[in-house]
Amino acid sequence: MQMQPPHDTTEADDFTTVDDRSPAALRGLLADATARADDPSGSPLAGQTVALLFEKPSTRTRVSFETGLTRLGGHAQFLGPDDLQLGAGEPLRDTARALSGYVDGIVARLFDHEDLLTLAEYASVPVVNGLTDAAHPCQTLADLLTLRQTVGLDASLTWVGDTNNVCRSLVVGCAALGVDLTVATPAGYGLDDGLLERAVALGGPPETTTDPAAAVADADAVYTDVWVSMGEDPDGDKRAAFVDGGFGVDSDLLGLAADDAVFMHCLPAHRGEEVTEAVLESGQSVVWQQAENRLYAQEALLELTVG
Ligand code: CP
Ligand code: NVA
Repeated sequence: MQMQPPHDTTEADDFTTVDDRSPAALRGLLADATARADDPSGSPLAGQTVALLFEKPSTRTRVSFETGLTRLGGHAQFLGPDDLQLGAGEPLRDTARALSGYVDGIVARLFDHEDLLTLAEYASVPVVNGLTDAAHPCQTLADLLTLRQTVGLDASLTWVGDTNNVCRSLVVGCAALGVDLTVATPAGYGLDDGLLERAVALGGPPETTTDPAAAVADADAVYTDVWVSMGEDPDGDKRAAFVDGGFGVDSDLLGLAADDAVFMHCLPAHRGEEVTEAVLESGQSVVWQQAENRLYAQEALLELTVG
């Protein structure tokens, strides 16, 4: 029997990917995030509860959502992998409908992006993507906010490394806001056509290359993330392509960027792999500002979606 979702699957309040919001709405979110950073007063989510449904570990996403909900006057209910009947085999679609009777929104960190879409389909409350294998849109909001605060949104940004969830959402966010993005990855690890088509539809695809030095030359911002993401085989041979191609961001590579270029990383970082200790701890690194911005960006998002 075909399962019928209980509501319109195009519900506007979900935030499953960056392009669930228009470019104008994304700019509005950055403005609202700045306002929340400057003045966190008021309790727009008073009496409201948001479930944090997490299948994977998290420091920044979990704590920034929990703290953000407190600052908005609401309540966060953390649900880890061992806390629910979901872990004992209850279907996600049943979990979605049961939770919708209790909470006003769901932030979910799941392995499979398709599961997030199922959750959004069956939940009657807004669903926010807290990271899947395919996307990390909340990270992109904080990244764009950080760019705006540091080098500006008209600067040039170079991604060096894996085209993972963080990169994919960044590509979409940069296309939506017209940020000049270059993506450098080893051959065979590039962006898929589907994502590039989404970027084209939003305003333009990133430049792509397999040459990290050429990509970083004169860039205003350099961004990297781990080479092996959560859920991928940590013992696979993927790392070798990044090591052999010189994709680790060290002082020499960053030295090719503009003199006042900033270094970005979504964290957690693997020092000695995608970035050196010296770069991460350098004066050019804005990673802590970037991490803090998760709080303000998500407060703005929660106010818009759940509030
Ligand atoms: N950047 C990020 O999402 O970090 P966590 O895995 O700690 O949440
Ligand atoms: N690409 C990383 C991001 C962690 C925040 C991962 O998915 O593990």
